[in-house]
Amino acid sequence: MLGEIVDYEDYDYREFWSGKKRSYEHLSEIYALKKLVSKKGKRFIDIGGGYGRLSSTYINLFPQTVLLDYSLKNLSVAKKELSKRSKSKIFFVASDAYDMPFKNFTFDFAISIRLIHHLTQPQNFFDEISRILTPQSFFILEYANKRNLKRMGKFLIRKGTENPFFYEPSMIGKNIYNFHPKFISDKLKLAEFKILKILSVSNFRLNFIKNIINPEILSKIDNIVQLPLGLIKTGPSIFVLSQKRDEKIEKISSAIEKIPWKCIYCKSDIIDEKEDELICNQCGAKFPIIGGIYDFRKK
Ligand SMILES: C[S@@+](CC[C@H](N)C(=O)[O-])C[C@H]1O[C@@H](n2cnc3c(N)ncnc32)[C@H](O)[C@@H]1O
Repeated sequence: MLGEIVDYEDYDYREFWSGKKRSYEHLSEIYALKKLVSKKGKRFIDIGGGYGRLSSTYINLFPQTVLLDYSLKNLSVAKKELSKRSKSKIFFVASDAYDMPFKNFTFDFAISIRLIHHLTQPQNFFDEISRILTPQSFFILEYANKRNLKRMGKFLIRKGTENPFFYEPSMIGKNIYNFHPKFISDKLKLAEFKILKILSVSNFRLNFIKNIINPEILSKIDNIVQLPLGLIKTGPSIFVLSQKRDEKIEKISSAIEKIPWKCIYCKSDIIDEKEDELICNQCGAKFPIIGGIYDFRKK
């Protein structure tokens, strides 16, 4: 395992977003995703999707959607909500994002929002996403930006101790990492991604502004400046749209009825699907389906 998993099992993540306190950030993120997500391909995955907070930006756009998270608690909330709203097929998968239970080239579009700040090995994470994506498919990443305007200002007047210009990630609190934009773009390139577009999001995340301007108006202003400020990447949250490079592969089957599962232990893709579990034909590993959630967490 690549570091401890921050799995949110003992944490009410929906509560974190309830009320008005973070409406501005939530709405700004929805605006950003609406600009970047497009109906390209057949299978979509939200990695570390939590309880499906951002699902309104992609639900029903693709014939198949996977919401993957390590937290059964978040996935259960998502299942209850999204099963009602989804007109296309939606799968709920409990798994570690570093080692996902899918064959190579399974998805045409992936997003991962507010997950990488919990990961100690970003390169392994990007390589894994690149593995499950088809050539030329798309990936939207959100990361917490250490080189944001507020931190740079604090550092320059010597109030902040951490140097925001330093390339390596900084740890904020117990288990949150902030990243330098150059660090992220270098790692994405190493995982064969080409950056297409960058948005700077939640640019007005300052209490004195949030206290005087209502979230609907503030997020509309954010929506307008996200692309121009993306050029200088000064917001606290950065959204990157990238594309996996082209690659010659054997023809991918166009049948989409089934998700091409892969055993996370022996890597075999011969998986039998029963009503309440998946069984690996090669090593015999069993993966329960609990209340409609496929459980691939390692025991
Ligand atoms: C801050 S929440 C973000 C959720 C969602 N993307 C959103 O923006 O509302 C981080 C999520 O990542 C999940 N997570 C943390 N580490 C993970 C890992 N290694 N693999 C899969 N999910 C993970 C947590 O369970 C949690 O639901």
